Amino acid sequence: MAGKIKISPSLLAADFAHLADSIAAVEEAGADELHFDVMDGSFVPNITVGIPVLAAIRPLTKLPIDVHMMVIEPARYAQQFADAGGDIFTIHAEACTDLEASLGDARVAGMQPAVSLKPDTPASALQTVLPLIERVLVMTVEPGFGGQSFMPEMMPKIVQLADMARRAGTTLEIAVDGGIKVDTAGAVIDAGATTLISGTGVFNYPDGMRIGIEAIRNAGSG
Ligand code: DX5
Ligand code: ZN
Repeated sequence: MAGKIKISPSLLAADFAHLADSIAAVEEAGADELHFDVMDGSFVPNITVGIPVLAAIRPLTKLPIDVHMMVIEPARYAQQFADAGGDIFTIHAEACTDLEASLGDARVAGMQPAVSLKPDTPASALQTVLPLIERVLVMTVEPGFGGQSFMPEMMPKIVQLADMARRAGTTLEIAVDGGIKVDTAGAVIDAGATTLISGTGVFNYPDGMRIGIEAIRNAGSG
């Protein structure tokens, strides 16, 4: 295993009435970054938060914020999310008519671009843009809602992406998102995941978030 596994708690599972407290608590508990889920009610059947909420929380934390855009043609909003304080702009391959240009827009806006793949989208969808990114996000549930069950059939995709990066001679951060908890984290880490996004798995961990984050981080066999 190369380097420390990063834990990115999804704020979707935080207490939205006390977001500042939740962010302080999860940062204190050892989170490496924050995951901010944006849903447009069209790409996914749900609506969450957007630019004003990101701008409001930005001053509250030093952690990098990964903006997971479950939005059709997300590049339309790249500059606004960058101005609001997004660090990583994770866009769906399925949501962009021109993925390469959309990644470029995120980069020009000042964010690190990343590509997310829905469960039905194969790893090969990434082949042409691999030189343009340092990070991929593998959805391990259908995007749209927190608290769903992990899809173990996504494991080969994680292995394939790790192989693709190795063959291309590049380092690729492989993030996984959906149903990641202490009992599912070990397998994804062993498969090659390097960043674990977890909402309910962190925020609802029975023994508290600090112990939960460490348990998820150390779940791999390596
Ligand atoms: C789902 C979101 C996830 C979600 C994960 O569409 O992209 O980030 O918050 O929640 P858990 O970890 O509870 O499955
Ligand atoms: Zn997400």
